[in-house]
Amino acid sequence: MSRYLVTGGAGFVGSHAVLALLDRGDEVVVLDNLSQGHRAAVPAGVTLVEAELADTKRLAEVFASWRFDAVLHFAALSLVGASMREPLHYIAENVGHSLRLAEAAIKAGCLRFVLSSTAALFGEPERVPIDEACRVAPSNPYGDSKRMVEEGLDWAARIHGLRYAALRYFNAAGSDPQGRAGEDHDPETHLVPLAIDAALGRRPALTVFGDDYATPDGTCIRDYVHVTDLATAHLAALTRLETHGSCRYNIGSGNGASVKEVIAAVERVGGRPVPHSIGPRRAGDPAVLVAASDRLRAETGWEPKLGSLDDIVRTAWAWREAHPKGYDDR
Ligand code: UFG
Repeated sequence: MSRYLVTGGAGFVGSHAVLALLDRGDEVVVLDNLSQGHRAAVPAGVTLVEAELADTKRLAEVFASWRFDAVLHFAALSLVGASMREPLHYIAENVGHSLRLAEAAIKAGCLRFVLSSTAALFGEPERVPIDEACRVAPSNPYGDSKRMVEEGLDWAARIHGLRYAALRYFNAAGSDPQGRAGEDHDPETHLVPLAIDAALGRRPALTVFGDDYATPDGTCIRDYVHVTDLATAHLAALTRLETHGSCRYNIGSGNGASVKEVIAAVERVGGRPVPHSIGPRRAGDPAVLVAASDRLRAETGWEPKLGSLDDIVRTAWAWREAHPKGYDDR
């Protein structure tokens, strides 16, 4: 059995990773300030340290209280649009917190670190599907903050022997197939939950952000990857770090879906129409982002088990239908 520190473990992707770790018998300590995460997303029996990552004294205490085999670092600001309004806040928080956390881990002798990174690193990608050799050129401060963290960790790897895995998520969606966790952001900005809520009549009609892109149906194409598959990618990365050096992986299902295809999937799975209208483009949205996850598959044997859009929508729908107010703990 291993013990892991999971920052942001009360958030969407983090809470699903916690479940994956517990399911294989590991021990988890969650550190979260609950600004975006939910107390109710932390399973019973898991220690929740309610703390700010900026509190370096508290971080040192946490590392002194437990010996961790690795840190999984999910806690971050993650909205592209908000980062365009508050660039310095995004960069200062994401970079400062991540690197201070890594510093505290290294000081405590914990030399394995898994970073939640992002497809936003690639900006308008030079080719699709996007492999790890593609040019890193973020087109927003959020993506750039993660690039800076990856570079900082690289220095720590060279100088302190840290082994890190930077996992570049594409569009995380869906929810735990057993219904133990789900997606609950405030405000919600993501397509899948917004489309489901529109179908359930809980929100006004969905606005499709542009239908004049150079794609077959004119709407943006993204790579929706099931959050439980993302969670198992973390397990695969942790295993890899036991025997190998640092790594960077792009993680998606490898299938692109347009906004209109997502709407069609929600209507098919939910059996209800998704009221929607076409609006203007959203600033900063690239036309197509699809991952090539071949490196992760080849080096770790990881395979998505819930790779279809219908699996994603089915699980997301089930959780949202069962939790009209989300975690309802605010
Ligand atoms: N969209 C709409 N209407 C909406 C919301 C979204 O048309 O009301 C469209 C967007 O324009 C985009 C697609 O649906 O084409 C997906 O948008 P999301 O907001 O769900 O997700 P993003 O692709 O903007 O961003 C997500 C994460 C980022 C991450 C990125 C990587 O939120 O953190 O995926 O691909 F960087």
